Order: sequence, then C-alpha cells, then structure tokens
Amino acid sequence: MTKKQKDLQSPIDFQGNVEKNSQNVLLSVQNLRVWFELRHLGFGHAGYVHAVDGVSFDLHNREAIAIVGESGCGKSSLMKTILALYKPTKGDIIFDDKNINQLKGESKMWYRSKVGFIQQDPYGAMAPFMSIQRILEEPLIINGVKDKTQCVDRIHKVLNEVKMEPVEEFLPKFPHMLSGGQQQRIVIARAMILQPKLLVADEPVSMLDASVRVEILKLLRGLQEIHGLAVIYVTHDLSTVRYFSDRVFVMYAGKIIEKSEVNLLVNDPLHPYTQALLEATSEPDSANAKIMKQIPPGEPPSLVNPPAGCRFHLRCPYIIKGVCDVKEPPEFIKEENHIVSCWLYE
Ligand SMILES: Nc1ncnc2c1ncn2[C@@H]1O[C@H](COP(=O)(O)OP(=O)(O)OP(=O)(O)O)[C@@H](O)[C@H]1O
Ligand code: SF4
Ligand SMILES: [Mg+2]
Repeated sequence: MTKKQKDLQSPIDFQGNVEKNSQNVLLSVQNLRVWFELRHLGFGHAGYVHAVDGVSFDLHNREAIAIVGESGCGKSSLMKTILALYKPTKGDIIFDDKNINQLKGESKMWYRSKVGFIQQDPYGAMAPFMSIQRILEEPLIINGVKDKTQCVDRIHKVLNEVKMEPVEEFLPKFPHMLSGGQQQRIVIARAMILQPKLLVADEPVSMLDASVRVEILKLLRGLQEIHGLAVIYVTHDLSTVRYFSDRVFVMYAGKIIEKSEVNLLVNDPLHPYTQALLEATSEPDSANAKIMKQIPPGEPPSLVNPPAGCRFHLRCPYIIKGVCDVKEPPEFIKEENHIVSCWLYE
C-alpha cells in the first residue's frame, strides 16, 4: 500500500452496520437525466447541456456516500434535482417510497423538512440582514412550529450541537460578524433544525480555510452518527471522503463511472479516471486542496454533444479503439460493493 493510500484510509472506524437491503432504502435515484436547454438561436434549436445523464443509485437509511468528480461534471445539478429545486428531464427520485416529482403543497413541504441542505458558500446561503436567531426561526415558523418555547428550545439544542456556544452570544449576531467556519456551522444548524433524515452537503468545506475544514467534516460526521442520518457529501477532493467513508461514487461528464466502498476505491481504483483522480489528490488540510489539478491532461468533453462510447475515451491512456469510442460501457460488478463502467473489466 502506498503512503497516499494509507493516508487516505479512514482513521475513524466507520459504522459498518448500515443495512444495504431494499427494505432499508431511503432514497432511490432511477435513471435520472437533468438536461438544460440552451437558448434558442432564431428558429434553430441550440440543444441541451446533458448535466446528469442516466444516473442511478440507492442510498440507505444511516448511510453516507460521497460523490466525487471534477468541476462541471454535474454534481450540483444532481443534488439540486434531489433537493427538488430542479425537475428531472427523465427518471425518478423516490424518497421514503414517495416519488418526489409528484409531491405538491404539504407533502412537498414535508419532503423539504426531511432533507437538509448545506451549500458551498455559507455566507451566500444566509440572508445578510437576518440575525442568527431569525435565520434559525424561519424554517420552524414556515413548518408550523408556533410555540415560542418549542422554537427557542430547538434553536438552543441545534446551536449546542454545532458548538456555537454560548448560544445567547450568537443569537443576535448577523452572518457578517462570524468567521467562515462559524457561518458554515450556522448553515449546518439550519439544515438540522427540522430534524431531517437526509443531509445533502455540496462542497461544504471547499470555501473554508484549511484550518477549519477537517473540524467541519468531523462535525458533520458526528451529527450523522448521533442522529442516524443519511448523508450525500459532494466534493471534488477525494482526500476528504474518508470523513464520510462507506461508499464513494465517482462522477464524470454527467455519469457515475465507479461505485465502491471507500477503502476498496482507495486501495484498488478500477476506472482509469478514478486512478488519475487519486493520483492528483492532496491532503484536506494542506493549503493546496482548493486547487483543482489537471486530471489527467485534457479537458472534459462537451456536455452539449457528449462523445459516443465511453465519455472518458478522449483522455484515456487505455482506450480500446473501435470499442471505447463506439459503445457506452455498462456497469460491471468487479467484486462485492465495487462496480465500474469501463470496457477493461468486461
Ligand atoms: N441552471 C443551469 N442552466 C444551464 N446549464 C447549467 C445549469 N446548471 C448547471 N449547468 C451546466 O451543467 C453542467 C454541470 O454543472 P454542475 O454545476 O452540476 O457541475 P458541478 O460538478 O457541480 O461543478 P462544480 O464542481 O464546479 O460545482 C455544467 O456544464 C454547467 O454549466
Ligand atoms: S471504457 Fe475504454 S476509454 Fe473508457 S475508461 Fe475504460 S478503457 Fe478508457
Ligand atoms: Mg457544484
């Protein structure tokens, strides 16, 4: 095992007790497509950005998965569709046996209360003119918590959990009076306030100083364990996935190309893109973790006219001509909990 692989292995003994069976599925993403229509040019049809293009996976209760991939590969589009902020072009998202596309009114509100969202930019995620108290009160009021004492209790509890103490000191403050790490703690508190079942964290630490990045990841992981939450952690940095081990999905140009348990992925990456991504991975607490390295040389393909066959074939050193550039690789099961979409594993 290389030093990098050792470093990437989880120092934390992750709960290996998640039941991965069909009865325990919390969220099922089924052949999801999210295409954005380009602006019309005159009478012509300019086409679509195929941001998410045939993504399927199941997430179980209490399970944490990481979705990793380069900038522009479709991670946020996938998350925003799961959060019901975008409508799928095709495919279904089933949460707790309900199709989220069919939810309206109260049932949509119920869904939003069950899924907490943690954005990349904590300052941008909060109204600058609202105090911390109002920011945390708002979702409670919208969701019908009218009892003042209940509201206050809940806010205190959640602020204690995210270590914003003494609570009374922070309640009257405004977002600009807090550090980046504290702002992200408030965003996490707001995501937790309605006691969700699932947390979606889209690059939650990439805009924070290296010194607080690990602290915030550990906080999220602690909350996940205490409350038995399912978590989808989105990142472009593989080095941070150990804080949410269990499974990792690698995304490339709108598709998931490898699905694996984290240790299997780190020790035996199968897809040539995953191998390159791992090679380019830096430590989460090093100063250069914000920089996206070139992995490997070359640009990701156009999502408006994606190439035929494997979407990685234009950059792949192992391309099988006449196969990879013609036929799209299906999912091959290499071993238990390790699936890859690459013709090398046919
Ligand atoms: N609302 C939108 N309208 C049109 N195109 C969009 C929209 N949102 C995203 N896209 C396009 O979809 C593709 C995927 O973008 P997305 O933001 O999902 O990627 P990402 O993996 O989250 O990238 P990053 O790591 O930079 O956040 C990009 O080409 C982007 O320009
Ligand atoms: S399918 Fe072919 S081009 Fe794609 S990653 Fe595998 S070997 Fe490379
Ligand atoms: Mg994004």
